[in-house]
Amino acid sequence: MKYKIITYGCQMNEHDSEKIAGMLEGMGFRPAAEDNEADVIVFNTCLVRENAELKVHGKVGSYKPLKEENPDLILAVGGCMMQQQEIADEFYRKHSHVDIVFGTHNLAELPVLIQQVKSGQNRIMEVWEGDRGLVPDVPTRRKNDYQAWLTVIQGCENYCSYCIVPHVRGQERSRPPEDILKEAENLAREGFIELTLLGQNVNSYGQDLEENINFPTLLDKISSVSGIKRIRFMTSHPRDFSRELIAVCAAKDNICPHFHLPVQAGSTSVLRDMNRGYTREEYLKLVEGIRQKIPETAITTDIIVGFPGETEQEFEETISLVKKVRFDMAFTFTYSPREGTPAAGREDSVPRQEKSRRLQRLMKVQNNISQEINQELIGSQQKVLIEGESKKDPDYYSGRTATNKLVIVPACPAKTGKIVPVKITEAGSWTLYGEITGNCQS
Ligand code: SAH
Ligand code: SF4
Ligand code: F3S
Repeated sequence: MKYKIITYGCQMNEHDSEKIAGMLEGMGFRPAAEDNEADVIVFNTCLVRENAELKVHGKVGSYKPLKEENPDLILAVGGCMMQQQEIADEFYRKHSHVDIVFGTHNLAELPVLIQQVKSGQNRIMEVWEGDRGLVPDVPTRRKNDYQAWLTVIQGCENYCSYCIVPHVRGQERSRPPEDILKEAENLAREGFIELTLLGQNVNSYGQDLEENINFPTLLDKISSVSGIKRIRFMTSHPRDFSRELIAVCAAKDNICPHFHLPVQAGSTSVLRDMNRGYTREEYLKLVEGIRQKIPETAITTDIIVGFPGETEQEFEETISLVKKVRFDMAFTFTYSPREGTPAAGREDSVPRQEKSRRLQRLMKVQNNISQEINQELIGSQQKVLIEGESKKDPDYYSGRTATNKLVIVPACPAKTGKIVPVKITEAGSWTLYGEITGNCQS
């Protein structure tokens, strides 16, 4: 019996897919190399922007012929898109070749649903509301044996006015610190060297717990687990990025000097309309504070252009903020109205063409900055965690610096999963190129 999982969306979803894989392997399934070998195919969906949703419809639709050829094949669709009741209902009606629809909250129930379908039950749609507490821990099949994701908090309660995530991921629920630490210790014992702590806003960690613990304290504890060489976390809400957190990051060598701090917009009025809870000036001050205490740090961000009512001048404030901060990298998006969010009800939307124009302009400015920052690294030595074959060419391997920059080096299989010194020889906006210094074989 074999399975395949197709994942859309953020790291949270990627990690959920690792849990789905872990549960399926627990049922005796093994990974399928090809679609037509699979007995179960699971789609883990995202709906953060319209094109994420369109992709899922297209992809799931394309499996209809395979299902007709092989009626025993089980198709299951879960994730954020299915957690939105109206969308899930319509999806279930439209894609009649899908056997199971499940939500983010009842992920752990998937094995039971698969058993029910296998034992002859018809199609099933089972989506729980988000008020049943933490999604329980389940076995996890990780992407490799040296890097692991670790959930610290589920859900989001920030309700940024454009965002659907709180509607599909539910209230904030922190995992008990003992569970997180136990998982970190087990991972270290198994030889994992890099942990990425996950949450939509890790900085809210602990607020819903009875015990007195917050994210900086948790991070400090995790960073003391022996054997863990790199710790990353995402995402941090700029509003809640405290001095205490900066101090912990500065004090611990194994906390990577890279912070993903989504700014979303550069104008205080747009930030207010977005319900982000900070001003342009507060954001700039935060970046300055981080850079003062942790000098070689990389800062990346997410930016939305064309939020309803965003004027040309407000957009220019985003450009000027980008120039001022000089982000190492930015994920840039045009605003996409999400039904059920406050911003989607606004009538002052920016025309599509104008949104694209703003995006193009922003990308150009940011790419130049990324290129300039990366060029300065030419000639430097970086510590790179080698992750295996590069996507484009098996003669090359890729890895990440502590600052999370992608580095391409000549193939070096013996170094996969190891941190090695690399001399940087070339740089583009997105990628660095270099050579491992020292012997590649040992
Ligand atoms: N929790 C994270 C982000 C999760 S979603 C945070 O608060 O920063 C990832 C990114 O998608 C967001 O940072 C935002 O830039 C973008 N995004 C979310 N909703 C969007 C929408 N409706 N239209 C366009 N981009 C959106
Ligand atoms: Fe969405 Fe805002 Fe929560 Fe991030 S913090 S997931 S953007 S509501
Ligand atoms: Fe998408 Fe859900 Fe993540 S909507 S961005 S997969 S939390």
